[in-house]
Amino acid sequence: MKLYRIQNNKLVLTEEGIPTIKNDEILVQIKALSLNYRDLLVTEGIAHWKPSEGRIPFSDAAGEIVEIGKHTSRFKVGDRVTSLIVPNWEQGKLSPEKINVAIGGPSKDGVLAEYVAFPENYFCKIPDYLSYKEAATLPVAALTAWNAVIEQSNLKLGDTILIIGTGGVSLFALQFSKLAGYNIIITSSSDDKLKKAKALGAHHTINYKTHKDWIQEVMNITSGQGVDQVVDVVGGSHISESLKCIKSEGIISMVGVIDGKTVGSINTGTIMYKAAKIQGVETGSTIMYQRMLAAMELHTVKPVINKVFPFLEVPKALSYLKNGSHFGKVCIEL
Ligand SMILES: NC(=O)c1ccc[n+]([C@@H]2O[C@H](COP(=O)([O-])OP(=O)(O)OC[C@H]3O[C@@H](n4cnc5c(N)ncnc54)[C@H](OP(=O)(O)O)[C@@H]3O)[C@@H](O)[C@H]2O)c1
Repeated sequence: MKLYRIQNNKLVLTEEGIPTIKNDEILVQIKALSLNYRDLLVTEGIAHWKPSEGRIPFSDAAGEIVEIGKHTSRFKVGDRVTSLIVPNWEQGKLSPEKINVAIGGPSKDGVLAEYVAFPENYFCKIPDYLSYKEAATLPVAALTAWNAVIEQSNLKLGDTILIIGTGGVSLFALQFSKLAGYNIIITSSSDDKLKKAKALGAHHTINYKTHKDWIQEVMNITSGQGVDQVVDVVGGSHISESLKCIKSEGIISMVGVIDGKTVGSINTGTIMYKAAKIQGVETGSTIMYQRMLAAMELHTVKPVINKVFPFLEVPKALSYLKNGSHFGKVCIEL
């Protein structure tokens, strides 16, 4: 089978045998994958995302089960499944033990291969209405957005949410905010992307490149009050911009690490007098994923796929993602 391993901060296509499963594992033939910003950080070896030599990257895949181990019980051959990025976080609160096993990064091999073998809790069944490509977009971007916008949010119908950007996480945040009945403001560097975001259900749009004072635009839209929640996919010092956008007791959902930025300055006094809540968001648990899939199926939420590349062009797909012209998810089809 064909697969990619990381060597010298580059993807190298190799040929190896199909993995032999252990009794507690299942073998999945991968049909589609999707790219996340994290895959850039891992492949390029940025900061703590740098993996050891030979790592198989990528966390998000959908495929068909072709073999099941003797000691497995959750699936049968032929079932359609996606991977889960933090499989040991099945339910309950997050802990270092649960998060330390994240596939396709520094701690464990991922799914950028024609076949993968993992324990059965590394997978989740997918609804029939989703294609393999659509399902492959869900494990990281959709779950993170769901966790931020639904699981950890205390917003009510009509409350205002500000979503930064129009990438993978941001568009799922838009779609889930629409389901929840929030008033949605979304930002982008592109008017064309903002037009598409409006068609998807955003109520207000702001181009953060052409409106240098885009925070004032947020204030104008909210009659000077600010928003109830911000989904911040940028990270670093962008948090101080998000802090300016929220109203008293508003929530900043800190999701992003664009350019690998994990440190930023913030006015702690403003956090205090606004009684701001800063909520870190780390993907989500299996049970959250199942709740998300059920809601998506009920409302037939279709992921936004921007572009699909063949398996032999994964490096090209990563460059495309890095270039930032995408609106929604970039996928790989096998
Ligand atoms: N915490 C978690 O568990 C988790 C999970 C998933 C992702 N993430 C992180 O979340 C971020 C987004 O991930 P993704 O996969 O959705 O990436 P993506 O598809 O590449 O999207 C990147 C987005 O960032 C926006 N953007 C970039 N620079 C910006 C800036 N200076 N100001 C405002 N917006 C900016 C872009 O908006 P426009 O193109 O519209 O301008 C685009 O929407 C990444 O940092 C990723 O590592 C974290």
